[in-house]
Amino acid sequence: MNDTTAPVKTDGAATAATNGQTVGSSQHSHWWAHPKPYDKVFWENQAEQGERPLIWVNGRIVPKREARISVYDHAVLYGDGVFEGIRVYKGRIFKCGQHLDRLWQCAKAIGLKIPISREDMVDVMRRCIAANHLSDAYIRLVVTRGAGTLGLDPRKCPVPGVFCIADHIALYPPELYQTGMRVVVAKRPRTPIACLDPRIKSLNYLNNILAKTESFASGALEAIMLSTEGWVTECTGDNIFVVKDGRVYTPPVEAGILAGITRRFVMETLCPQTGTPVQEMMMGIDFVLNADEVFLTGSAAEMIAVTAVEMDRKVTKISDGEGPITRKLRQKFREIVTSDNVPED
Ligand SMILES: Cc1ncc(COP(=O)(O)O)c(C=O)c1O
Repeated sequence: MNDTTAPVKTDGAATAATNGQTVGSSQHSHWWAHPKPYDKVFWENQAEQGERPLIWVNGRIVPKREARISVYDHAVLYGDGVFEGIRVYKGRIFKCGQHLDRLWQCAKAIGLKIPISREDMVDVMRRCIAANHLSDAYIRLVVTRGAGTLGLDPRKCPVPGVFCIADHIALYPPELYQTGMRVVVAKRPRTPIACLDPRIKSLNYLNNILAKTESFASGALEAIMLSTEGWVTECTGDNIFVVKDGRVYTPPVEAGILAGITRRFVMETLCPQTGTPVQEMMMGIDFVLNADEVFLTGSAAEMIAVTAVEMDRKVTKISDGEGPITRKLRQKFREIVTSDNVPED
């Protein structure tokens, strides 16, 4: 092979031959810099391509294809960091204050000092919304441990990283919001509080991903997770609510769940405003299977009805489509998020 003309893969699908970049001045003359067929597997990855959205990453707003963090960032190496998923309705950041409270609490819980102020964080989000001309959107705000050494030691990561993506999200097909959906009960239990408190919205989501994967095997899109003791906790990316005899129930945070902000909105705003009694309660899976209605909540999912639950391959029907209480609460939710008073507190 002619070493002097060998291209070096440096950025996207471009090569040194086409973009003129090299890492070292004579790198292209090294045998190891020659592209191999397996290198190309990654070059055209569509998920990485594109101009939009513009993304704020560690102090810069850049096109999506240029948004990069270090491979030495412990977020990549170990899932070490925290994040938020936040909705924007009519250009307003839904429950912005509560999301930032949770982000700062979670960062504190893992000994991570967020390097910018809350005000600056809001500014970053607003810049991303504006840069992408968004009105209804979903924000992913991530704080990473930062670049360090290859060992676990977080003290070797001097500067935490921050990035903010403002984009659209469609967690479930739109028709499921009318019809409701089937979920499975995952065999994999939720990580116990003593191991990694699910209240911490950390970048370590493998427990959830593996449970969610179980649902795909049955053609479902979400899974209910039980605790190691068998209590109902939450779904892989949403909180769970059960309606029985006109009352709404949801597991308490002590069950080992994320204290969801949509969950709180249901309990503190939607239920009171619709005159629906609501309470926290530890529940076994039988309580869910015998429910009149079940629904899930989350910033990405918003509110969606569960009409059937599959457990050990047996499907239990919960309701014919979205039940009346779920509908009432979801309508109230839509009314508020499409109003001129989307709460940013
Ligand atoms: C595990 C888990 N539970 C519940 C939720 C819902 O929380 P929120 O309403 O704050 O989005 C999420 C959302 O990200 C989640 O990841």
